[in-house]
Amino acid sequence: MLKHKRLYAIIFTKLENKKENMFNKKTVKDASLKDKVVLLRADYNVPISYDDNGSAHILNDFRIKASLPTIEYLINQGVKKIIIVSHLGRPQSVESLADIDELEKLPNGKRKYSLMPVFKHLKNLLQERDYYFPMNFHATPIFSRTHYPVPIAKADDDYKIEMLENIRFCKDEKRNSLGLAQALKQITGAGIFVQDGFGVVHRGHSSTEAIAKIMPSYAGLLIEKEVGTLYSMLTTPKRPFIAVLGGGKISDKLPLIEKFIALSDKILITGAIANTFLQYKGYNIGKSKIEDGQTEIIESIYEKAIRKVGIQNIDNFIILPSDIAVKVEGTNSKRIDKDLADINNNDSILDIGHKTIRMVKNELKNAETVIWNGTAGVTELEGFKAGSAAIAESMHEIAKNGGTSIIGGGDTSSFVLNWCEDKKVDANDFSLISTGGGATLELISGEILPGLEILPSKRRNINNRSK
Ligand code: 3PG
Repeated sequence: MLKHKRLYAIIFTKLENKKENMFNKKTVKDASLKDKVVLLRADYNVPISYDDNGSAHILNDFRIKASLPTIEYLINQGVKKIIIVSHLGRPQSVESLADIDELEKLPNGKRKYSLMPVFKHLKNLLQERDYYFPMNFHATPIFSRTHYPVPIAKADDDYKIEMLENIRFCKDEKRNSLGLAQALKQITGAGIFVQDGFGVVHRGHSSTEAIAKIMPSYAGLLIEKEVGTLYSMLTTPKRPFIAVLGGGKISDKLPLIEKFIALSDKILITGAIANTFLQYKGYNIGKSKIEDGQTEIIESIYEKAIRKVGIQNIDNFIILPSDIAVKVEGTNSKRIDKDLADINNNDSILDIGHKTIRMVKNELKNAETVIWNGTAGVTELEGFKAGSAAIAESMHEIAKNGGTSIIGGGDTSSFVLNWCEDKKVDANDFSLISTGGGATLELISGEILPGLEILPSKRRNINNRSK
């Protein structure tokens, strides 16, 4: 009897895990949208610079463009109105409208972290696509306990798209307050909530989690694409499956590395995290950027990897650079490639070397699935883009040949988008250039994403009976 119970428990856990790894949330395609007013959560947290006059300049509009398919879909389905809610950055926040005046002031009456520049940019992008309907920006942020006598949905206007001011000006947003969610619902008068801000679903906030508890909620097309692609990579990857990791900190990427030890056929380590590995292996890495105190972490990574592939195969499973590039002294960006044994005390590693680039290309040539997170070098410097450019090129080739190539992480995604622009290549050729930073890492690492978890599933299950 006990034996049977254990068996059932194992089967049940396996089924539950499988369910977690499938995208089975209700999407906008399951909703009846005609004449509805939709509250759309987007992630318009885009990089912006401000000049001395307080004018804002959007440095990268990838997340705004990524929201267009859902907006177009909603429009084409005949919704009455779309009211967009988003955050931008991590601004100061206050309890109520009475305290807002001094918040994030810029010259000429402008406010830092306002979503107004994003609104204008979205309007332009829609007009470029021949959508010329009236649009409106609500400059007064929404707070808990405020009520509009006439909800936005009922107002006598013909605005098709309206955008609310940065929801993070309100302190209650990060508290996941039901009060703020209720204010959002009452003030907008929306009948449906659509979550399409993939980059923010790892946050349990009022506009990502609480709101979905009080409104009929659906995933947008961006969420469907991002989560669906990542789940298939996690559950049914075509092999060989290679993970390419770079960037700065091993500690940030540890859950990711552990996941890929279990899942992938090879892990290529590049970027500054490779420096820390190389130092652990006893190489002199000069003045290169490293992360101190990682010995135990690296030891545990190797232990797990050796358990999987055996000591004899370890260097062909976790693959480190065999040469690197350093800056020629006195130049801005001129590189010189060096073998590991030739690195001297004054050198600073800024990219993988050309022998390593050839090796990476060779490995990727045979791959069917590649996920890349973290650039291979300091891509802000022209001379040190070569490693990352080679990875982008190989991954583009893989995708064009029917394989899966996924790019995750803010810096890596930005690099690939610029690379696409330089090379006149369509970014949509890649299987996925993720808009998520933390959200992508947390999803891959197997963490619960509150803004996704709360969305109703297509099929009833024990966690979602009430929906
Ligand atoms: C991001 O850029 O990762 C998301 O927009 C979430 O922003 P946050 O880290 O400030 O919550």
